[in-house]
Parts: sequence; C-alpha cells; structure tokens
Amino acid sequence: MSVHSTTVKPNTVPRLRARKGGEPVVVLTAYTAPMARLLDPHADVLLVGDSLGMVVYGLPSTVPVTIDMMIAHGAAVVRGAEKALVVIDMPFGTYEEGPEQAFRNAVRILQETGASAVKLEGGAVMADTIAFLTRRGVPVMGHIGLLPQSVNTLGGYAALGTANTDGWDAIVADAVAVADAGAFMIVVEAVSEPLAVRITESVRVPTIGIGASAACDGQVLVIDDMLGMSLRTPKFVKRYAELGGLIGDAAAAYAAEVRSRSFPDERYTYKLKGDNKAPQGEEKKS
Ligand code: KIV
Repeated sequence: MSVHSTTVKPNTVPRLRARKGGEPVVVLTAYTAPMARLLDPHADVLLVGDSLGMVVYGLPSTVPVTIDMMIAHGAAVVRGAEKALVVIDMPFGTYEEGPEQAFRNAVRILQETGASAVKLEGGAVMADTIAFLTRRGVPVMGHIGLLPQSVNTLGGYAALGTANTDGWDAIVADAVAVADAGAFMIVVEAVSEPLAVRITESVRVPTIGIGASAACDGQVLVIDDMLGMSLRTPKFVKRYAELGGLIGDAAAAYAAEVRSRSFPDERYTYKLKGDNKAPQGEEKKS
C-alpha cells in the first residue's frame, strides 16, 4: 500500500471510465518504484505490463512471465505512485482456465501489491471471466487486437486490419464484449487507424491505443521504448529521449576516470572529521 501525502487526489476507476471521449488518458508502463515516482505526476495510469519479461528480464516474450514477478514489480510501482492508478497485467496462464482461477489470482495480485486493477488479454472469449471479476470487486482493463501472450499461436507481432477489412468485425465484437462485460478501459494494440476508429466508436469505455492511432481515447507506451532504451523500436513508438546513449556515455566516462585514477577526487572522498588532513588519533593544532 502506498504511503503518501493526503493532498493529492488519486485517480480512480470510475473517474477514468468517465473520461470516454474527453481529455485523453495518459498511460505509461512502469516496473520499479523510482520510475513510478518520476512518471506519477504526468500519467493517469501506471501499467505494470508483463512486457517487463522482455524489458527487465531479457526474456524472448511475455509467455514465461510469472505471477510472482508481476507481484514483486507491482508492489514496487504502488510504493512509488501517488496519483496515478496502478494496473497490473495478469500473466499468461493465470486466468485463461476460467473465472474462478482468474478471480483467485487477481485477488492475490490486488492484495499483495495494493494496486487498483488488473489487465488481461482477450476479447469475447474472456467476457465471462471479466464479468465474474468486475461483479466481485476486481476492476479489469481489457486488451484486444494484437495479443502478445498469444505469440506462439499468432507466429509474430504483426499489426491487424492493415491489408483489408477482413477480420475487422470480429475485433470490434471483441471490444464490445469486453466493454459489456464490465471492463473500465480497453487497451487496443496494433490495429489500423480506421479499425481503431470503429472500435472506439463502438464501446462506452475509453480505448487506450498502442500502435492504434490517435483515434483512441488515450495512449500507452512501454517506458523503455519511449525513453530510447530498447534495442528495437516498433514503428508506432516515438522516442522522446535517448537515455540508452546517455547511459553508455556516462558509463564510458566513469570507466575512463576509474582507469586514470581521476575518480574519486577530493570532492568525493570522506576525510577525518575536525581536521581533514590529520591522520586518525592525532591532535588538531591551533
Ligand atoms: O505488457 C505491456 O506493457 C502491455 C502494454 C504494451 C499495453 O500490455
């Protein structure tokens, strides 16, 4: 549970749901407490995405991410967040069996992290599970379009609905099913702009796009991507900074100074209190 000042009004699920068609909703991923602290003043929602599998752990996909990883990072982000609503991804295999399994694991995530909501991937097929959770006090953010946890059945991460309109109806039906089941927001991943328009017009809750154009009610980006710290940058990512280069430059400067013994100099060195020059045990002369 986060312990913060009482003056900041935290975002809530009803307040965010009411942003449909209004001020765009700002969502960023976060995986650690210090990053959450930096992002909190600027984001409405901090998403502890299972993208942490790749971003933090160097895994090849989100498939191997465990619930214990999500809980450890989720609790850290909650400690760093003050105003933003914290949402935690349910990892692959922790909710697909059915509503009871999903409820058990969602409750564990909320109780052990202090977060406000969970996110799970899937459209119409997950509607019963989303309804089960939301009716029992677990707010759910949906996720439709490209579903990264299904990479092994999809065979990759290609955007959807870009060649023609084949399959559009099914994706719109997914969005409607997830919204009708009670999701308070829906992430729409990697779909063409006209399809994003149709999805956003078809549901009563905010759509949050990632590679889904400005037609959505809000946007989300993976923090390491937008800070220029990822090796590969998907087409839809704008790099707002180049921290990867800055970190490399800083490490190179440090390494050179250590090797030349110019770091640490006097400014970064502890001296004996009272007389910086006197060796330990000697009297200070006036
Ligand atoms: O895991 C994640 O970071 C996500 C966002 C990309 C939406 O699901």
